[in-house]
Formats: sequence, structure tokens, C-alpha cells
Amino acid sequence: MSENKAKLSDSLKKNVTPKNFKKNPIKGTKFTIMVSSAKGGVGKSTFAINLTFALQKKGKKVGLLDADIHGPSLPKMIGLNDKPKTDGKFLFPLEKYGAQFMSLGFLVDEKTPMIWRGPMVISAIKTLTEKVAWKDLDYLVVDMPPGTGDTQLTFAQDVKIDGAIIVSTPQELALMDVQRGIQMFGKTKIKIVGLVDNMSFFESDDGKKHNIFGEGGVEKTAKEFKKNFLGKIPISTKLRESADLGLPLTYKEPDDKISKIFLEIADKVMQDVA
Ligand SMILES: Nc1ncnc2c1ncn2[C@@H]1O[C@H](COP(=O)(O)OP(=O)(O)O)[C@@H](O)[C@H]1O
Ligand SMILES: [Mg+2]
Repeated sequence: MSENKAKLSDSLKKNVTPKNFKKNPIKGTKFTIMVSSAKGGVGKSTFAINLTFALQKKGKKVGLLDADIHGPSLPKMIGLNDKPKTDGKFLFPLEKYGAQFMSLGFLVDEKTPMIWRGPMVISAIKTLTEKVAWKDLDYLVVDMPPGTGDTQLTFAQDVKIDGAIIVSTPQELALMDVQRGIQMFGKTKIKIVGLVDNMSFFESDDGKKHNIFGEGGVEKTAKEFKKNFLGKIPISTKLRESADLGLPLTYKEPDDKISKIFLEIADKVMQDVA
């Protein structure tokens, strides 16, 4: 690692990724898919868990790693509060609905505020990337913290990521940050599978679409940066409620209109990362 570290600090000064930089794969999974967003609250976690079960519906063995250490939301979204078992060396993921899960939220008391300082952040991330005993996964989906700060950079530079998905709302402000995210992945040589437009529109009972947060911005940004556009997910009470109840929509109702959008995105992920 020390050789890597020297290369890394040199490259950060020059703002490029060094050649032959060794990234460690996460053990126990074939492919690692990172779900990221520029801002919090755009639906990244909701997207990540529904993509996980969409991939499961496609016959894949899946896991979800909640790496959003400042605001882990997985315990609530999957309705799990157990403490993961450990053999002193590794942490064993929790299992539910045939999928595997890990979150710092399982390890820390829910009421403890997640105030981490620099070195603690790095050791927490290392625990999540190196010390979890995933079992024979095809796809591990990683729910990243929002933004392009130190945590993301450390993660992106240390871990072998097979593809990244950027989730955004169509708002102008969110889009500016998306461009920053695209640039970060460029620097860390991570393949961007594509961009997703979440809370894209609201469909009223008369079938009319209302573009509450603006229209077409994410798709336009994707085109501008020559990235794939993966799809639009509408504002949906059902999607929100299912996440609040710990019963993800794509698991509970795979035939639902919105689940079908996730299944289509899962197809694209499987085509691109295989
Ligand atoms: N398409 C959507 N329709 C309705 N509510 C949504 C949608 N996507 C996310 N939400 C809700 O918005 C809130 C923030 O979503 P979350 O996934 O926690 O965002 P993030 O992980 O980006 O902070 C949650 O209450 C979630 O249920
Ligand atoms: Mg989240």
C-alpha cells in the first residue's frame, strides 16, 4: 500500500490518476456498482435499494453496501435492526429477502449522531470495503455518500468499481454538481454506466405529467458529457412508502409501472457491466 500511497499523493498534486494504480476489489462479489449523487435527498438510497432488487428479479445474487456513513438509511429501508455477526476478523452481512446487506447503521446506535473526523471516516470506509464477508454475489450495489469530497475520493481511488450510476433530480442546482461528479469519475477512471433522472415528474390522476423540478436537464447533461441516460423515475408515493416500510417496491411489486423502469435500468447495468 505504501507504494500506492506515494503514487496517490503525487497524482492528487497533479490532479490525475497514476498509471498502474492498484485498486482492491471488494471480496465475495463479481461486480461492484456505485450509486452516487451530487447532493443528498435526491433519492440515491431509494434508487440503490430498488436497483438491487431489480437485479435480483433478473436472477442475480445481490448485496447492498450502505457506504453513506454520515446518514445511513439502509436499516430503515430494509427494516433491519440486528447487529451483524463477526468472527473477530470479518463482519457477516445481514440477509433479508434473499439479499445481503451491510451498513454502519447496523453497528452504531440509531440515536448516535454520525460525526466522524477525517481518520475515522477512512477507517470506517476501510472496514466496509475490506472487512465484510459477502457471499458469492454477482452484483454488489454501493450507496455512496453524496458529493465529491474526501470520502468519495478515498473510496473511488482505493476500490475497484466496475461502474457508477449518478442519480439526480432535474433541478439546475443539482445538475451543476452532477457535472462535478462526472469529472471526479473521469479522474479516478471509473466507468459511468449512466445518469438517472429521479423525481422526474409527477403524474396526476388525469394522466397529465407535471415537471415539478424542471424538465429534461439530466438527459441533456448526459448528452453533453456523452454518457448514457438510463431513465426517468417519477415522483411516487408508492416508492416512498415502500422504502419507509422496509419493503422495497421492486421486491414487493415487480410488475408495478415504476418497478418496470428499475428492471429496464437493471438490464442496462447487466449489459454494461458483465
Ligand atoms: N421517486 C421518488 N418519489 C417519491 N419520493 C421519493 C422518490 N425518490 C426518493 N423519494 C423520497 O425522498 C426522500 C429522500 O430519498 P433518499 O433515497 O433517502 O435520498 P438520498 O439517499 O439521495 O439522500 C425519501 O423520503 C424517499 O422516500
Ligand atoms: Mg441516502
